[in-house]
Amino acid sequence: MNQTILILGAGGQIGNELTLKLRSIYGSKNVIASDIKSCERLFNSEGPFEIIDATSRDAVLKVIQKYQVTQVYLLAAMLSATGEKFPQKAWYLNMTSLLVVLDLAKEKYIKQVFWPSSIAAFGPTTPKHNTPQKTMMEPSTVYGMSKRSGEFWCQYYHEKYGVDVRSLRYPGVISWKTKPGGGTTDYAVDIFFHAIKTQSYECFLKPSTRLPMMYMNDAVDATIKIMQANVKDIQIRTSYNISAMDFTPEELAKEIRKHIPKFTMSYHPDFRQAIADSWPQTINDSYARRDWNWNQRYDLSLMTKDIIKNLQAQKNLEFNAL
Ligand code: SER
Repeated sequence: MNQTILILGAGGQIGNELTLKLRSIYGSKNVIASDIKSCERLFNSEGPFEIIDATSRDAVLKVIQKYQVTQVYLLAAMLSATGEKFPQKAWYLNMTSLLVVLDLAKEKYIKQVFWPSSIAAFGPTTPKHNTPQKTMMEPSTVYGMSKRSGEFWCQYYHEKYGVDVRSLRYPGVISWKTKPGGGTTDYAVDIFFHAIKTQSYECFLKPSTRLPMMYMNDAVDATIKIMQANVKDIQIRTSYNISAMDFTPEELAKEIRKHIPKFTMSYHPDFRQAIADSWPQTINDSYARRDWNWNQRYDLSLMTKDIIKNLQAQKNLEFNAL
């Protein structure tokens, strides 16, 4: 079926790469990138771009009608660490944007919605190892509260109004094209930039803090795969556990040293340590594997190799430009 897709939050870490991949599949003109601020340059001014405040029903609806949008990917959100600094703002943005989009789907302006949840929906009382799909979930951050509540809203709109909303509980997502902003897992992205530039990094988590993680390429593939899956295969309407790897800062540093032997790491844990300590260490994603054949392509070693290769090429480009 032909799709016209709207990405809300296309300037963010996942939104950016997801937009580019969706454009390569559905054609640039059929994928409308949008963000609260102008960021066309991320997309080489190819394909439509609109400025949208995702909490404004009128703004979202106007663009949906202008392009006859069929699918919305709602990636606008405030992440865990920034959310703790601005709790009310985080709640307002994360919840209002979701309810705006769910309502528009209920009113049949759009056919399908993607909305990300996160490992932050779990909390200190959740089993930390091989965390099951269905388990104790008492999140301790505002971001996590918004994700857990959002999951229930998704399920509610599906059961009550037949809205086809699909969701993944992303682990830490690691990228090199766009940096994340304000998350607890951001160290695993920052570390690569510092490793290339200065061969050293001061980590804001303790060396032994194990967290579930995924390379951006896999996160983008999983997102598109769940949206393309047959409707009867989507058995979970809250949000699917999904994972690819897990590691500690110490283990990541060791892997980076295989490529950059001089790399050194120091540790200065801050308030993000408590957030990380409240999250699972490893995730059981067997429902996603069973229902719509989720399978990752990248492990720690393949990902590290790929990021370093790409960043080194980029560094050369920067040097060329000087
Ligand atoms: N990467 C996110 C964060 O750290 C988790 O969903 O906030």
